Amino acid sequence: MTRVGVLISGGGTNLQALIDAKAAGKMPNVEFACVVSNRKKAYGLERAKNAGIEALYLPTVRFESGEAYNEALRDLLLSRGVELVVLAGYLVVLQKPMLETFRNRIINIHPSLIPSFCGDGFYGLKVHEEALKRGVKVTGATVHFVDDGTDTGPIILQKAVYIHPDDTPESLQLRVMQQAEWKLLPEAVRLYSEGKIEICDNRTVIRPEDLEIEL
Ligand code: GRF
Repeated sequence: MTRVGVLISGGGTNLQALIDAKAAGKMPNVEFACVVSNRKKAYGLERAKNAGIEALYLPTVRFESGEAYNEALRDLLLSRGVELVVLAGYLVVLQKPMLETFRNRIINIHPSLIPSFCGDGFYGLKVHEEALKRGVKVTGATVHFVDDGTDTGPIILQKAVYIHPDDTPESLQLRVMQQAEWKLLPEAVRLYSEGKIEICDNRTVIRPEDLEIEL
């Protein structure tokens, strides 16, 4: 069993997609160890509780430095036996204590096709605003491992989503979630839990026959 710790900051629809995939029997090797939020009011904490998963609140302001926060977060996750860390709309940038302990064991979901519309400052609605501003016709989502850069780690899965002429940042955000994020994240976690993701240099290798979703 792969014990998964999910980090969130907000609504937690991606967390819900993970919970639903587990309930539907799609991730037999996964068990949720805990959900941690840096925001007290994150609705994702309620989703975790409703699913019977331990829900923890760890605010950054309680610590004198980012490093101290990262040490506390690492120790918390280790104390729950976490092997894989999933960032599901988690808005804190991780630092050394987390990155070193969980090297190649932290995955993130980003709402664009990396390397477009990613990096510092590209989060939430901003990503979709920029895609619309640039006039791209196709966007999507990416699940990737986290390294010490912003959105620079090995890419695990990507899925394209078409932009409609009448899209607003909000309508695009929702479609990217529905068509890409909520499918990709559970699939990436399943693949990891079954040992089906190899990392070579800064790239992953996944055999097409191991995929259980359509890309
Ligand atoms: C998602 O768009 C995700 O890609 C991004 O933050 C958003 C989180 O949404 N990293 P939710 O909290 O999972 O609903």
